[in-house]
Amino acid sequence: MKVALLGCGTVGAEVVRLLHEHERDLTARIGAPLELVGVAVRRAGRTRDLPIDPALFTTDALGLVKRDDVDVVVEVVGGIEPARTWLLEALRGGKSVVTANKALLGEDGATLHKAAAEAGVDLYYEASVAGAIPLLRPLRDSLHGDRITRVTGIVNGTTNFILSSMDATGAGFAEALEEATALGYAEADPTADVEGFDAAAKAAILASMAFHTRVTAADVHREGITEVTAADVASAKAMGCTIKLLCIATKLDDAVSVRVHPAMIPRTHPLAGVGDAFNAVFVEAEAAGQLMFYGRGAGGAPTASAVLGDLVAVSRNRLAGTHAASESAYADLPVRPIGDA
Ligand code: NDP
Ligand code: HSE
Repeated sequence: MKVALLGCGTVGAEVVRLLHEHERDLTARIGAPLELVGVAVRRAGRTRDLPIDPALFTTDALGLVKRDDVDVVVEVVGGIEPARTWLLEALRGGKSVVTANKALLGEDGATLHKAAAEAGVDLYYEASVAGAIPLLRPLRDSLHGDRITRVTGIVNGTTNFILSSMDATGAGFAEALEEATALGYAEADPTADVEGFDAAAKAAILASMAFHTRVTAADVHREGITEVTAADVASAKAMGCTIKLLCIATKLDDAVSVRVHPAMIPRTHPLAGVGDAFNAVFVEAEAAGQLMFYGRGAGGAPTASAVLGDLVAVSRNRLAGTHAASESAYADLPVRPIGDA
């Protein structure tokens, strides 16, 4: 199974390490060895302490994707373009795709799904929402016979760290953000996290998966946490609540409602105890009742774990000459930004 890796940063480097460390197990689980045939990066000459031949690095991602011998393309670069061009080229060329790219899936997942369905290949993206937590495949596979009514989640680790720190110490937003940056949770430019764009992209992916419809990040009502003050957190505390940045996707009668905003939740709610930079997603389904998924939503190794899981699944499918069900069953339900509470 020949694998092209696009990106070798925080996540990609861990994918390389796990491929190397788990080589024998992966071969046994798939029934064939995984062979890394190229790694596309922005700076090919950079020294990287990784257990692979430096000659595998290239700056020509498109050239790598187009290679006839590639079976699976793993994309961990991020952003809309050029990632969309690469992945469409891969899918249309009959390659299976694994990606962690929430921004792209949240903006234009429909185009990728259409290309995958037309080519009869797999498109897996478990790592795009809540990092290591097995969430999308349980929604897509295990709960397929049920009707999901609501998904409520903490899907951004950076903002959860900031709000948890404000709750624990009484600090203001700026001070907590500074702490998150110093500890390496927040990126140099934290806008996507603190303004809720990252959570909105993930909410769009979750809602699409849970309700078998198409929701884009632009459909999601979005408010970040920059306006949350120490006084807000203290008031919530006095009322027996805590403030969390929630993504809330609700199935209405003939539509869906998807929103991301800070919300007060009672301290007795299962999501209230989710601290630090952890993620958790609370799923309500008609027959299954309430389910909670919890774990590390970010970081190189946790995210790479989800990528590897997808890689095993698509490789097995490919060897068996099959692929996951096409997205043709998807309905186009209208999205109402503000639904019930
Ligand atoms: P990084 O910024 O750490 O790494 C990005 C990689 O992409 C680098 O190796 C970079 O090359 C390479 N790259 C950038 N532009 C190009 C280009 N034009 N051509 C070829 N290679 C390019 O990102 P992360 O590893 O943090 O994230 C990767 C993906 O995973 C993103 O979609 C992100 O949203 C997603 N994700 C990340 C999580 C995390 O915790 N980090 C969690 C969940 C999802 P170079 O090394 O030369 O700079
Ligand atoms: N910046 C994201 C977060 C990374 O803080 O959750 C994981 O998607």
